[in-house]
Amino acid sequence: MAVKEIKKDIYYVGALHWDRELFDEIVPLPDGTTYNSYLVKGSEKTALIDTVDPDKEQVLFNNLKQLNVDRIDYVVSQHAEQDHSGTIPKVLSMFPEAKVVTNQKCKGFLMDLLPVPEDKFIVIDDGETLNLGDKTLEFVFTPWVHWPETMCTYVKEDKILFSCDFFGSHFTGSNPFVTDEEKIIEEAKRYYAEIMMPFQVFIRKNLDKIAKFDIKMIAPSHGPIYEKPETIIKVYRDWVSDNVTNEVVIPYMSMHGSTEKMVNYLVDALIDRNIVVKPFNVINADVGALAMALVDAATVVFGTPTVLTGPHPAIVNIAYFANAVRPKTKFVSVIGSYGWGGKTVDILKGLLPNVKAEFIDPVLVKGDPDEECYKKLDELANKILSKHKELNII
Ligand code: FEO
Repeated sequence: MAVKEIKKDIYYVGALHWDRELFDEIVPLPDGTTYNSYLVKGSEKTALIDTVDPDKEQVLFNNLKQLNVDRIDYVVSQHAEQDHSGTIPKVLSMFPEAKVVTNQKCKGFLMDLLPVPEDKFIVIDDGETLNLGDKTLEFVFTPWVHWPETMCTYVKEDKILFSCDFFGSHFTGSNPFVTDEEKIIEEAKRYYAEIMMPFQVFIRKNLDKIAKFDIKMIAPSHGPIYEKPETIIKVYRDWVSDNVTNEVVIPYMSMHGSTEKMVNYLVDALIDRNIVVKPFNVINADVGALAMALVDAATVVFGTPTVLTGPHPAIVNIAYFANAVRPKTKFVSVIGSYGWGGKTVDILKGLLPNVKAEFIDPVLVKGDPDEECYKKLDELANKILSKHKELNII
């Protein structure tokens, strides 16, 4: 994206990465991503807020050149992960007068990850301000959105919150601002599910913390800028709340078709009971879409055959991921076919210590599902229905 002035003397100088396919080599990026960097020109000093992934450093330098920037006094590092910090060493070499402004923890991470000498840092505290002349930066520590050192920066005069990963989305567009709110909320949910969901408790506290600021604009370090910040704050509050929806997510796979027959039967049985069902064949599933489904769903049912005495490794992989993202799921169960025995249910339960859900009796069948098996699947659907009714979500 070319340089854009987002507010008087505040510029978007970041980079689009249209064709990036994976983040952290796990998460699919159907719409690419952006590394947002912002230049804040005060009447006396100039600050750069975050840099870009080193893959796109030339875009940042071209943007600064376009603005005829010949001096940067401060590089504010809100988060040490390299998609925002990786170009700091190059910025410091091109603007030797610049100091890196960050918190103590982030300083430590940056020195672990990058060649930044200690005398280049100015360490700030939570709530401290930095005067740029006619603009004032206030630093707001927001740990665990995404790492423990992550912080936001509030420009008092313009009422902009630079939020780094917080409220971000992996989305590239031609406009630095949100133009299709519904689409961006969906993208932000995907981002939340993959990156933020494990830290729900911390996010709740950080939402309370930023509530005292009069915020007219949220400028994250991924995805477009929110000119109506109340919408994204509201959906975040919902995502981190205890509220769940009348939905059952079914990650499954099948080797010879028996488990698939069970899944198909359960899907229909749940739909008949007015429950929303989201089945994912994990062999080809978009992990991001699955994570999104886990944000709100009341129930998760794993569908797996027994292989090598346990769940199929493809389901083990997904159960490990589900445990890592810590969804607020209330009920969990397992269905599947086996040949002669095994410990599928115990192994799956053992993979989910972070999922604080009630376990509903599994339905396992030897070989191909029979009438008795389908009856048990109906009972499972009834049980899920009654559990959802107890939660008043149906
Ligand atoms: Fe966008 Fe946690 O880095």
